Amino acid sequence: MASEFDLTALVRPNIRALKPYRCARDDYSSGVLLDANENSLGAAVPEALAVEARDQSLNRYPDPLQVQVKEQLVQLRGLPQTDHVFLGVGSDEVIDLLVRVICVPGQDKILITPPTYGMYGVTAQVNDVGVVKVPLLVDTVNDPANVFQLNVPAMLAATAQDPAIKLVFVCSPGNPTGTLIHPDAVKKLLTSLDQFRGIVVVDEAYIDFVPGNKSLASWVTRFPNLVVLQTMSKSFGLAGIRLGLGIAQPAIIQYMNNTKAPYNISTPTARVALAALNKQGLADMRKKVATLSAQRQLLLDALPQLPGVGQILGTNDANFVVCQVVDATGAPSRNRALQIYQHMAQKMGVVVRYRGNEYGCDGCLRITVGSPEENQLLLQRMTEALALFQ
Ligand SMILES: Cc1ncc(COP(=O)(O)O)c(C=O)c1O
Repeated sequence: MASEFDLTALVRPNIRALKPYRCARDDYSSGVLLDANENSLGAAVPEALAVEARDQSLNRYPDPLQVQVKEQLVQLRGLPQTDHVFLGVGSDEVIDLLVRVICVPGQDKILITPPTYGMYGVTAQVNDVGVVKVPLLVDTVNDPANVFQLNVPAMLAATAQDPAIKLVFVCSPGNPTGTLIHPDAVKKLLTSLDQFRGIVVVDEAYIDFVPGNKSLASWVTRFPNLVVLQTMSKSFGLAGIRLGLGIAQPAIIQYMNNTKAPYNISTPTARVALAALNKQGLADMRKKVATLSAQRQLLLDALPQLPGVGQILGTNDANFVVCQVVDATGAPSRNRALQIYQHMAQKMGVVVRYRGNEYGCDGCLRITVGSPEENQLLLQRMTEALALFQ
């Protein structure tokens, strides 16, 4: 078996052969534009929105490649050029496109590492692509440094045994584990071409919450088989604009651009993203991350004091914490966790996420770090709920 990574061999034959749609804005974007069947009279919106719509030329289709936004992102993430960045409607769209570009329905598979982000598996299922699961290490007793880390030998054994596995999804920091994956483990996956010739996707949705620059984005220049996902939804606080990134070598990015809908990123989304990526926006993002990190510490200190809360799991590298709810004997209790979760949501107006059925998260609740006021309220309500359901 050849030991070189071969992207062409990996991409689905129909995508390889695709003659991409060429939209009007790929050709010209200035002058008297009578080429895209847009509304030449402008946007039909109420007076209050008309100025905004005119300023943004909302009657026009957006830039298909959003080069300006990419220029800002390239600077921020220390990437060589805009051709290393794909923009999607959230990273969820990037996940879907990767599966559609690489995996032949009914034949190919992805590998995921439970407990992990649910959309990898759902996207695979939607695309009729198989899912192989190699759980994260959860043995806390013998090897605390490796809790929620990758079981690399088992992953490589699985890929070596099943060449239909084309994509491996690694979530770092993990959702729901909140745990940054050791970079050496990712490097091992990337360099073991005799056992895995597909693409390693590292989902860094929460990377800005990790102190120091721990992103693997700059690795893409060295590894043609790496795709890094990031998003504006978390640290930038812009989940509503739906903007996610795929970072990889230009050859992969090109296949994704060929496959995407022509104008996937809207003009208002691009405009908000540009503002968020300027100096002031970045300063604000960093300030919010610092506040949320301090609040995370507050929760980490306070939650274990509540009677009925057991261990906090993982290394807490994201904007949430995962805590166990335990019974009178100190054992994790799914039942009690579920009761508390439901009562808090339905009767107290405080909504956390039940994750008690996930592998390695027995009886766990995942709690997003809120504002200082929200966190105080959470602690108060959770204390009350724990007292109600013993
Ligand atoms: C690990 C992970 N990846 C991706 C996403 C989706 O992000 P986006 O809003 O960019 O689609 C989430 C959202 O919760 C997530 O937890």
